[in-house]
Amino acid sequence: MASASERREELKAVFHEASSCVRCPQLAAGRTTVVFGSGNADADLMFVGEAPGANEDKQGVPFVGQAGKLLDTLLGEIGLTRGDVFVCNVLKCRPPGNRDPLPQEIDNCQDYLFRQLELIEPKVVCTLGNFATKLLRGDPTGITRLHGRVEERLIGPRRVRLYPIYHPAAALYTPAMAEILRADFRRLPELLALPVLDQPEPIVEPEVVPDPEPVIDEPDLVYDEQLGLF
Ligand code: URA
Repeated sequence: MASASERREELKAVFHEASSCVRCPQLAAGRTTVVFGSGNADADLMFVGEAPGANEDKQGVPFVGQAGKLLDTLLGEIGLTRGDVFVCNVLKCRPPGNRDPLPQEIDNCQDYLFRQLELIEPKVVCTLGNFATKLLRGDPTGITRLHGRVEERLIGPRRVRLYPIYHPAAALYTPAMAEILRADFRRLPELLALPVLDQPEPIVEPEVVPDPEPVIDEPDLVYDEQLGLF
């Protein structure tokens, strides 16, 4: 089992890989920075949003605009700071004009998110809005039906409590939604206090045993009478 510092080093390697990613040519051409994610590399709580916006693209940090301020406020209300959690997005690059992520872009980028989950080893994964919820549940059910319902899910090799809530940007201009978001947020400490879920047995790669040197079977020499040769 890897230590926290080994996992952190591996996470940094994934970050370096992502920072020159060109899997989505349009996003790679239009971005200022790749917004990999930020916070505690060994966090118990991980938030997954949708995609960076203009501010995030400039600063290289997720949730630094208005939605991020609301996220910080809600975190503060449950006694947490950004340094306690890890925050990232489904897409690591800003879609032009903040359009919705395309299915192909989600597909191209999802491996980074799954590796983040595997290396950070959170207890609770809080999906913010539809895109993260649908991707991590592998199901098209929308956030309106699912918000505030915790479920145990196996994501890659990790069993976590998945907790979908509304995206803070959706709550910015709708006070009723902000109250629902706040109420859902208040359940996070209780979820974090639950015992860690039993994890599946790690898949042990079979040891690669090199093939033995091939024994070359020398053919018996056959005497050719006619040629007089062996
Ligand atoms: N919205 C998101 O989904 N992510 C960000 O980083 C900022 C706004």
